[in-house]
Amino acid sequence: MTASSARFLDQDLATEALGSELAKLTPQGGTWLLRGELGAGKTTWARGFLEGLGGRADDVASPTYAVLHRYESPRGKLFHLDLYRLGEQGAWTLGLEEEVTAGDFLVVEWAGHQGPWPTEWVATLSLEPSGEGRLATWTLPDAPGPA
Ligand SMILES: Nc1ncnc2c1ncn2[C@@H]1O[C@H](COP(=O)(O)OP(=O)(O)O)[C@@H](O)[C@H]1O
Ligand SMILES: [Mg+2]
Repeated sequence: MTASSARFLDQDLATEALGSELAKLTPQGGTWLLRGELGAGKTTWARGFLEGLGGRADDVASPTYAVLHRYESPRGKLFHLDLYRLGEQGAWTLGLEEEVTAGDFLVVEWAGHQGPWPTEWVATLSLEPSGEGRLATWTLPDAPGPA
């Protein structure tokens, strides 16, 4: 069993607010896979997510060219990946498994069918254009995260 929800986001601040809200529901070491086309709002959501962890949202830039960013927050590290350019090579060619340790948060743009992800708790969020805003749908796993 998983729990799915949907919300219309009328502007970028609403996308950030959702990221912040969902960060507070994410257990230590949780992973979020973000789906949506270029410009859908994935990076905007990630900015809110870092803010929800108590970090500095201003630090979050689009990782499209950098592939990987790492941020500090009071709840631990957040790794923010954008796999748009990596394609089938996958995240693990980055040596990510040596960097990410249990308890780190992971937010992945363009995750595709890659994995496995380092935690059992993996949630998905999709963002689609809807009028001037976006429609967000997300699914939380019911597996409890590590304490
Ligand atoms: N709910 C929303 N309604 C309207 N515009 C939004 C919304 N959420 C984000 N945006 C805007 O969409 C643009 C692309 O956002 P971005 O987060 O960079 O997308 P992605 O990372 O998916 O490519 C930005 O200008 C952002 O402000
Ligand atoms: Mg982006």
